[in-house]
Amino acid sequence: MIIGVDYYPEHWDREMWQADVELMAETGVKVVRLAEFAWCRLEPSDGEFDFSWLDEAIGMFADNGIDVVIGTPTNCPPRWLCAKHPEILPAGDSGKTNPIGIRGHRCLNSPVFREYAGRIVGRLAEHYKDNKSVIAWQIDNELEANICYCDTCNKKHREWLKNRYGSLGALNRAYGNVVWSGEYSSWDQIDPPYGGYNQAWLNPAYMHDFQRRAAEDVTEFARFQADIIRSRIAGAKITTNTWFCTNLPDFYELFDELDFVSYDNYPTTNIPYDSEDIFTHAVHLDLMRGIKRKNFWIMEQLSGGMGCWMPMQKTTRPGMIKGYALQAFAHGADTVVHFRWRTANIGAEMHWHGLIDHSNVPGRRFSEFAELCKDAESLADLRGTQLRSDIAVMFSVGSEAAFRLQPQTDGYNYMEQIKLMHQAFARYGVNVDIIDEHADISGYKAVCAPALYITDRAVADSLYGFAENGGTVILTARCGVKDEHNNCIMSELPTVYRELTGCHVSEYDPIGWGKGSIKFNDGESFMCKQWCDVIETDTAEVIARYDSDFYAGKPAVTVNSFGRGTAYYIGTVGERRMYEKLAGKILKEAGVPHIDGLPENVEITTRTGNGITARFVFNNSGEKKEFLLDGTDICLAPFEMTVIRS
Ligand code: GLA
Ligand code: ZN
Repeated sequence: MIIGVDYYPEHWDREMWQADVELMAETGVKVVRLAEFAWCRLEPSDGEFDFSWLDEAIGMFADNGIDVVIGTPTNCPPRWLCAKHPEILPAGDSGKTNPIGIRGHRCLNSPVFREYAGRIVGRLAEHYKDNKSVIAWQIDNELEANICYCDTCNKKHREWLKNRYGSLGALNRAYGNVVWSGEYSSWDQIDPPYGGYNQAWLNPAYMHDFQRRAAEDVTEFARFQADIIRSRIAGAKITTNTWFCTNLPDFYELFDELDFVSYDNYPTTNIPYDSEDIFTHAVHLDLMRGIKRKNFWIMEQLSGGMGCWMPMQKTTRPGMIKGYALQAFAHGADTVVHFRWRTANIGAEMHWHGLIDHSNVPGRRFSEFAELCKDAESLADLRGTQLRSDIAVMFSVGSEAAFRLQPQTDGYNYMEQIKLMHQAFARYGVNVDIIDEHADISGYKAVCAPALYITDRAVADSLYGFAENGGTVILTARCGVKDEHNNCIMSELPTVYRELTGCHVSEYDPIGWGKGSIKFNDGESFMCKQWCDVIETDTAEVIARYDSDFYAGKPAVTVNSFGRGTAYYIGTVGERRMYEKLAGKILKEAGVPHIDGLPENVEITTRTGNGITARFVFNNSGEKKEFLLDGTDICLAPFEMTVIRS
């Protein structure tokens, strides 16, 4: 296991570098990411390149046995470039060019920007192609879907639609443009959503395509840069650091273009009081591993209190620096790079804390980081071991976007549906994969498919086939609602999944912040919230019924035999304990080895390979945990991780 840091030589006096690098080496830092925002220092004026400072920094790292990842600086075009070519700047939802001042001030589609971006990336790749210290490349920084209203993007969008629909008639039909007299009679009438991207009044079909194209732009931009790097460096290892931003890219398409996934991992430092709050960051880590179904990197890891554009948050509690990094290992990260070596004394991010404070006096957090480096060395034999899972949760890029465009009911959130499923199974110490809805699922025992809102025939076929062959499928309310255009399907819900689930929905009640209740056949009751599907069974059996409102007595949760397998349908959003009850039943029925009775917030995952089975046992809480695991007493301090090999 490898530990690294993010370092910005250009932010610090040249005299400090040597001491920094030596302290890194002495502490056990093995890799450094740098340069991702340094365009103005790498190309101080048009066509005049200066890599000497970067050579010097990389040279110092090399002398101290530290590898580097170079970030391409395309997130921040320098002022001279913006002044010379203002057309590279993105436009906001009024159609006017966004002012410069922050970062990310470039339109990914601008041909002039591509020219300059391509040139600097090419120069960097050429310059460092034989440098053995450069072990990987990061493209840009935290790429988000390219929501831009500039002329270039508008033209591109019209071309994209022409390719997709062929004729205006087909497009008008697909969008249902007859509503509110929205029919286009010429392609140039198609505008972007001026006035705001997330306006609830906009046509969902039109918005769905806008989002889809914006996400494709990112994939294409990453490919553009990756091709340039690869044309200079055969076998270059390329990634981009991704995260859960508002306008998500399509993780799966994006990383198809790249060699490995890297993630910016900032778990919260606030321990929630509400037991319904899922205090685990594991869901994000499992989603990242699931993108390529391979081990991944953390490119930025929480190091201290977060702040700057928001009020400062609590500092990392004792144990969190070590614990959260090891938690990432436990979920398939092989390298964890901490953001950042030292807190910035300058610039907008001076209150986003690194490992060392403004004073440059290493303190409590740094000591904990040094311990982490030692721990990571002791885990070296686990490099390359992997998590294998019997349980998967499907993530639907299209549904995620569609829910964002059209909120369903107060409090309802797609990612929450994923979390509820993930956490229910993870509670039993089993590995859980979160995977693309299009991934091959034949190797799993149970697949959760919460809220598959946008319907894709191929996904439905895959779930039917899986159940047919003996798998267990878990579907929920809001499955099968929309077609591929984000229009409602005219058929009883869950539409295409009706035969699989053996039930249908006669009516639904979006109760939002209201509360209802359901009762299982064994008498156990749970609260339910947000959404209530009133279910009628066709061939399914009822496992729980509503206990509230005018549909009291009607089915709320059902199970159906299909082929050699089983399909559950959960018509509401329940308490966490309800999902755990179902997960326990499913694990037992599907014969998946699991652990009953783990204390709350104890997380266990298993990595195997190299002839080793390693169990990572993590106390993700602020309290000491004591319990028996396979007859052995385990006692874990807050955020402590223990690794048990067999
Ligand atoms: C993100 C970015 C970094 C930095 C950190 C902390 O993850 O990638 O450049 O801005 O947030 O603020
Ligand atoms: Zn644009």
